[in-house]
Amino acid sequence: MWRGGKGEAREPRMTGMAWPAGPGEVGRLLAGTPLMARELPAFDAGAAPGAPGELFARWLAEAVAAGVPDPHAVTLATVDADGAPDARVLALRNVDVDGGGWVFATDATSPKGAQLAARPVAAMTYYWPARGRQVRLRGRVATAPPDVSAAEFHARSPRSRVAGLVARQSEPLGSLGEWTDAADAAERRLAAEPDAVPPGHTVYVLWADEAEFWQGDAGRRHVRLRYRRDADGGWRRGLLWP
Ligand SMILES: Cc1cc2nc3c(=O)[nH]c(=O)nc-3n(C[C@H](O)[C@H](O)[C@H](O)COP(=O)(O)O)c2cc1C
Repeated sequence: MWRGGKGEAREPRMTGMAWPAGPGEVGRLLAGTPLMARELPAFDAGAAPGAPGELFARWLAEAVAAGVPDPHAVTLATVDADGAPDARVLALRNVDVDGGGWVFATDATSPKGAQLAARPVAAMTYYWPARGRQVRLRGRVATAPPDVSAAEFHARSPRSRVAGLVARQSEPLGSLGEWTDAADAAERRLAAEPDAVPPGHTVYVLWADEAEFWQGDAGRRHVRLRYRRDADGGWRRGLLWP
């Protein structure tokens, strides 16, 4: 828990916080909600492909086939200039299967954009409950050239482009009416300038140095396979204790 706004010194704020005495209503709800108590697929790590991009593509396709809602929703973790962590859910836009690159897009002027400018490293976490599968990625983040970012924006639905043109992501909003007015203005702008692109709109690639594939098991015999990128760009892989 941190005190202070943008640019202010951050200190832990722990005063007045007592450790919860008993399980409480929420604790009881959680205790009564079983985790991964369902039939889950087996994972033969020995037969996994040599590169993590290939295994990711396979697991993603299987998540889609299993009806996982929003299988492209991913938690992206970044660090700010002070080293404090931050995380939020984004939409995965593409994967460079052979190169090991995971593509996402956002406004470079957003908090996460500023964090990536200061420290171009990130971690991504996927969880596909119907398959009991987690994928974790860590690595460096690169920014795509402006023409790639513009093309990605042009390929979006009109609704998504209107939302992007409103911009000002994560700035304090006075009222929902202000947002509606800005969205209406963005809609008019898009009608007049169909090629408009918000200046901050940016495509990023997380080039994974490390990728972990985690297959959950109802009996807690989880299987974990980690890939690490070699100095020569190849991949080494090995199992991890669950
Ligand atoms: C399912 C889902 C998909 C999202 N996709 C994106 C996205 O692709 N890009 C984006 O900037 N924000 C996306 N968001 C909103 C982010 O979670 C976040 O609220 C916003 O980017 C501001 O983050 P920041 O303040 O850390 O910069 C998505 C949220 C959800 C729940």
